[in-house]
Amino acid sequence: MSILSRISFTDIAVLVAGIVMGVLWSLGVARNSAVAHAQASVSSPSAPDVAAELEAIKGKLTDQSHVMQDVSYHFSNLWFAGQHENWDLANFYWTETRSHLRWAVRVIPKRKDNARQDVDLVTILQAFENGPLQQLQAAIAAKNKTAFEANYRASLETCYGCHKAADKPFLRLQIPQRPETPLMNFDPRASWPR
Ligand code: HEC
Repeated sequence: MSILSRISFTDIAVLVAGIVMGVLWSLGVARNSAVAHAQASVSSPSAPDVAAELEAIKGKLTDQSHVMQDVSYHFSNLWFAGQHENWDLANFYWTETRSHLRWAVRVIPKRKDNARQDVDLVTILQAFENGPLQQLQAAIAAKNKTAFEANYRASLETCYGCHKAADKPFLRLQIPQRPETPLMNFDPRASWPR
């Protein structure tokens, strides 16, 4: 008699039931341990830990000077885009300048002037956006190089106005002498890369 023929239907039923129960049991264990784990991670960091974590995260965030270096990058390249009358590229750098200026005043919205009075950087930026920056964009949209140059200079003076207001008169700006990256091809008619 072969082994197979000795296995009865009951044996198979018991075996299958055993497997099913085993699977159900291990699923239950896995679920319970997942629940326990989730509960542990919700309740475990105590309040002081959260404060410490927040401090650690803050220490890894950017600072205003770093964001201003982005502004410097975009605004410098904007000059060369205008010089090459590459108005699409100019529009790109103008938009980046504005968005990084907004980011800069989110990082530090208020500073002190030289009399230790509060200076509201957000308000200064709003006036800048509604004045010289808007006119600069109009010159870009009109593809007018003369107006572009005049409004670029006026914008640069306004940039410096905020530096003076924030008690940093030594952050004096000038028309850039070369682009911030040698990688950018400013020629709007360049044929490479295709
Ligand atoms: C609303 C105020 C404000 C405006 C507008 C502003 N800046 Fe600034 N900028 C600052 C402040 C404040 C600092 C110093 C940040 C610091 O000390 O962390 C600064 C720093 C800088 C620096 C020095 C960054 C470094 O670390 O070397 C440059 C460059 C700069 N700004 C360029 C510009 C340009 C270009 C514009 C105009 C397109 C501009 N800024 C407009 C407030 C302003």
